[in-house]
Amino acid sequence: MRTIEVCLTSDLIHQHELQGKTVVVVDIFRATSCIVTGLANGVEAICPIEEVEEVKELGKKGYLMAGEQGGIKVPEFDMGNSPFEYQSENIKGKKVAISTTNGSRAIIKSEGAHEIIVGAFLNRKSVAEYLLHLKGDVLINCAGWKGIPNLEDTLFAGALIDECAEEMKTVGDSVLMAHQLYVSNHENLYGIANKSSHAERLKSFGMERDLEFCMTENEYQIVPRLVDGELIIQ
Ligand code: MLT
Repeated sequence: MRTIEVCLTSDLIHQHELQGKTVVVVDIFRATSCIVTGLANGVEAICPIEEVEEVKELGKKGYLMAGEQGGIKVPEFDMGNSPFEYQSENIKGKKVAISTTNGSRAIIKSEGAHEIIVGAFLNRKSVAEYLLHLKGDVLINCAGWKGIPNLEDTLFAGALIDECAEEMKTVGDSVLMAHQLYVSNHENLYGIANKSSHAERLKSFGMERDLEFCMTENEYQIVPRLVDGELIIQ
């Protein structure tokens, strides 16, 4: 039977075997929610980048520069990290280079896996269906916050496990923890996610609207996949 496991924060990814696995990277507030929104709204490709300076280099080559540091837009960039910016007509057909505090790094840290896809509540059902049709093992890589697990990514991991557990053997206590968190809160996902420390941080910046949108389920029917360093829809 295929297996499914959870890495609660991508700083612990070295504890997991990546080879041969499909890794689902998750950063609900807000990087993977932005990536899903952008690609669903016509962005050609999104290139996850670790450092701000590397994004600026890609900016010189025509990429839109996007991202944040500590939740705040990098001043010289074209875009911050709000899913609403990723719905703009101006970004259709463009390539975006994105650097964020945790999300873009979690994608890069997943390199070595058989394949890397991106999940969010916004494309939850599509990701679950994709995983159910695979043959290989699955690892959900939660970005967390600076090496510490967070509530919203763990909640999403639990939601995916809920859809896949009958078809896959669960490995490790982090799967049980994530699933239990989801089961206990599935009737009020926004209510519980809204209490997380990063939700509090974003609210202090006046970004409540982003939180609510990121917790919308199944708004988009796409599965972004990393191909040659860029996230695209295939
Ligand atoms: C991250 O990568 O940590 C987040 O996406 C931060 C944010 O809310 O912009």
